[in-house]
Amino acid sequence: MSAILPPSERIWWNQPIDKLEFIWVAIAFVWSLTMFGMMIWWHVYGNQNLANETYKTTKEMFAAKTQAVVDKYTVRTGTEAEKQFPVVAPPAGSDIYLIGRLWDWWPIYELEAGKTYKLHLSAMDYMHGFPLQPQNINIQVHPNYDHVVKITPHTKGTYSIVCNEYCGIGHHTMVGRIYVK
Ligand code: CUA
Repeated sequence: MSAILPPSERIWWNQPIDKLEFIWVAIAFVWSLTMFGMMIWWHVYGNQNLANETYKTTKEMFAAKTQAVVDKYTVRTGTEAEKQFPVVAPPAGSDIYLIGRLWDWWPIYELEAGKTYKLHLSAMDYMHGFPLQPQNINIQVHPNYDHVVKITPHTKGTYSIVCNEYCGIGHHTMVGRIYVK
């Protein structure tokens, strides 16, 4: 029998199910339940969901908080490649503020490996996307909202931040940096 030709038996849908077909349906059913259970398992034990919080703020307030951290903990001025942004090294455990704007992440941070920081993110103009790899963090950054996420970078090195939301003609040039020592 082919699917193109009409079935030879007119009441084809009411025949007893073949044993093989039944086994496949049973396997698929059990597997789908297993996968469903895995969703819940991973949520609780897989540590895969980002525990971030979001608060209302204003661009002015957020900019002022960022500036305060920059004024207090800047250790040097960045190179030409770092757009001469301030390189800021706040103490472990502190609140750090990162601004997304056309087309920069400002400022540059220098963090200690294995230490936890409370990273605040906000945008000054449009929506931007903040990814941090290999930390598996990817969140949307909106103006007038303070997105807070705890980060504990374990791997030493240079973390490149790109922008994951299209934000205009310079979107592909919107890169930032975090150094982990
Ligand atoms: Cu910012 Cu794309």
